Amino acid sequence: MELEKVGVAGCGLMGHGIAQASAEAGYEVVVSEVSQEALDKGIGKIEKQLAKGVEKGKVDQADADAVLGRIQGTLDTGDFADCDLVIEAVTEDLPTKLELWKELDGIVKEDACFATNTSSLPVAEQAAATGRPGRFLGLHFFNPVQRMPLLEVIEADDTETGTMEVGVGFGESLGKTVVETKDKPGFIVNRLLVPYLLDGIRGYEEGIGSVEEIDIAMKAGAGHPMGPLTLCDVVGLDTLASIAGVMYEAFGESRFEAPATLQKLVADGHYGVKSGRGFYDYSGDAPVAVDPGS
Ligand SMILES: NC(=O)c1ccc[n+]([C@@H]2O[C@H](COP(=O)([O-])OP(=O)(O)OC[C@H]3O[C@@H](n4cnc5c(N)ncnc54)[C@H](O)[C@@H]3O)[C@@H](O)[C@H]2O)c1
Repeated sequence: MELEKVGVAGCGLMGHGIAQASAEAGYEVVVSEVSQEALDKGIGKIEKQLAKGVEKGKVDQADADAVLGRIQGTLDTGDFADCDLVIEAVTEDLPTKLELWKELDGIVKEDACFATNTSSLPVAEQAAATGRPGRFLGLHFFNPVQRMPLLEVIEADDTETGTMEVGVGFGESLGKTVVETKDKPGFIVNRLLVPYLLDGIRGYEEGIGSVEEIDIAMKAGAGHPMGPLTLCDVVGLDTLASIAGVMYEAFGESRFEAPATLQKLVADGHYGVKSGRGFYDYSGDAPVAVDPGS
């Protein structure tokens, strides 16, 4: 199947990156949000990224303008009707995703493929909400999409071979390193990464080190590009808590349970980088560690 037009539902942290990466690969893109404010914020991030690329001489102005010209922002899911592939990157909440898929299934042309960017929710359950489970798969991008090379392509029970081929081909056309995996909670990366991040928080709670010390230790001792608590802030603490909830329910193992500190930060509206505060405060020039209990 030849892909020309890609729909992206959600223009948050992941959706704006998927929209930009798709447009940079030459696809026509339509990206939706629930409010004009959220849409403007997401498109604004794309504009900023492209301007930075021009400034650094990585892309010329005409190409950046062409990329932006291929992206149509919308509040109307009706604009997805003629998409060949629709990827959802909305909030990590199953009822929200199911409602969206039911709506899109009645709008988008029948032979189009649907993909979820979920980090932890069952792909099969979302596929079953549509009349096209054979053309439904998982496409799990990583944050920031513009920079992270991996794409997990997820096969659910009913995903047809041809649909997997579409997913792999799409990922490769974006220049991604593609790994095929199965519809198990967390797939490959989050199955391994999420317990590690949650253990970083538990370690902090138990006093093994300060926020900064834990991050410094894992960078200098394990060669990680960023420490676990910084990475929690980058992922988004609300998203991490949702993923932990799904994985804890699926596996029933305490290593997947959201620690009290994570729950408190989310309840206080501190979601990490995207809200300006999490384990660090991002209001100044450089992040400053804050006591998550305060
Ligand atoms: N944050 C990460 O590191 C990461 C990595 C890989 C995958 N994911 C997954 O990507 C998805 C999105 O996560 P995010 O981090 O971008 O969250 P986010 O909170 O930054 O963005 C989600 C966006 O979806 C919008 N939205 C909600 N319902 C919508 C609807 N019906 N139609 C259109 N837009 C809608 C919200 O307004 C919000 O802007 C989740 O499923 C998450 O698990 C996240």
